[in-house]
Amino acid sequence: MAARRKIIIDTDPGQDDAVAILLALASPELEVLGITAVAGNVPLALTEKNARKICELAGRPDIPVYAGAAQPLVRKLVTAEYVHGKTGLDGPDLPEPTMPLQPGHAVDFIIETLDAAAEDEITLCALGPLTNIALALNRAPHLAGRIREIVSMGGGLFEGGNTTPAAEFNIYVDPHAAQAVFHCGRPVTLHPLDLTHQCLTTRERVDAFRAMGTRVGTATAELLDFFERFDEQKYGTEGGPLHDPNVIAWLLAPELYSGRQINVEVETGSELTMGMTVADWWRVTDRPRNVHYMRYVDEAGFYALLTERLARLD
Ligand code: RIB
Ligand code: CA
Repeated sequence: MAARRKIIIDTDPGQDDAVAILLALASPELEVLGITAVAGNVPLALTEKNARKICELAGRPDIPVYAGAAQPLVRKLVTAEYVHGKTGLDGPDLPEPTMPLQPGHAVDFIIETLDAAAEDEITLCALGPLTNIALALNRAPHLAGRIREIVSMGGGLFEGGNTTPAAEFNIYVDPHAAQAVFHCGRPVTLHPLDLTHQCLTTRERVDAFRAMGTRVGTATAELLDFFERFDEQKYGTEGGPLHDPNVIAWLLAPELYSGRQINVEVETGSELTMGMTVADWWRVTDRPRNVHYMRYVDEAGFYALLTERLARLD
C-alpha cells in the first residue's frame, strides 16, 4: 500500500462530523495524527467531548483529541442545537468518554505537527468553522508549506445558504477565519452545499447502516435518524444532506468528485450577506483562483464507499 496520508481532522461534532471521523478511522489509507475540536454546532466543551465519544465508538481511544478555539476570531459564537440537539450528538446514547482530552491547545498541536513535518506532508480536514486553522496559519505562516492541502466543508453558491439566505453555517460562524484560510496560499479544496445537498440520507441508505448489526452501524443510523429530521422538514426531501463525510471521501476516492479552480471570497462586511462565499464559478472576474470548488459528486459511489468502510468497524 502507498504511504498513508497524514491528516488532522478539525471538527465541531455534530452528527455528520461523527460519520466523517468514523470514515477516516475505518480507512487504512489515512493516518489520523490527531483531532482538534472547535466551537461550532455546539460549544467547545461539547465538541471536544463528542470527538472523544466518537473515537471510543470507533475503538480508537489512542487518537489524541485537543480542544481549540471556543469563539470565532471576531464574531460572537453562533451554535446549531436546533439541528444537532443539545448535546451536539443527539440520536444514539453514547457513553461518557473515558479517554483523556490532551493537555495543550489544539492550535499548538497543529503548529507542532506542521513544525515536525516535511513540505507538503500534512492534510488539514476542516469539518467546522475554520477558527483553529486560521489561528495556526496566523501564528506560524512560515510553516504553511508543510500543508499539502486544506479540505473544508463549507459555503455554497447555487444552493444559497443554510443559516442565512446567503451563508452556510461553517463559514457564517467564522467568516474572517474562512477568508484568511481561503487566501493562505496553500491548496484549498471546498465541499459546499452545492455538492453536499446531492448526498441525501434516504431511508434505504440509513437502513443499510442499521442492517450492519454492529455498534458503529447502529449508532450511525441513530445519528442520521436524528440529524436528518430538521433538513427533511426544511427541504421537503426524503433524508437530509450528509455534509462532512465528503471531506474524507474526497481523500479516499477523488474520482467521485468534480469541480473547478475558481476565485472564492468571503463576505465579512455586510450583515445581510455575512459569511457568503462569493464563488466565481463562471469566472467573470480576474480575481485569483484560490479554491478548488467541488460541485458534483457521484452520490451512489459516495454512499457505497461510506457503507463499505463503516462496515469494517464493529
Ligand atoms: O452547514 C453544514 C456544516 O455545518 C456541517 O459541517 C455541519 O456539521 C455544521 O458544522
Ligand atoms: Ca461540522
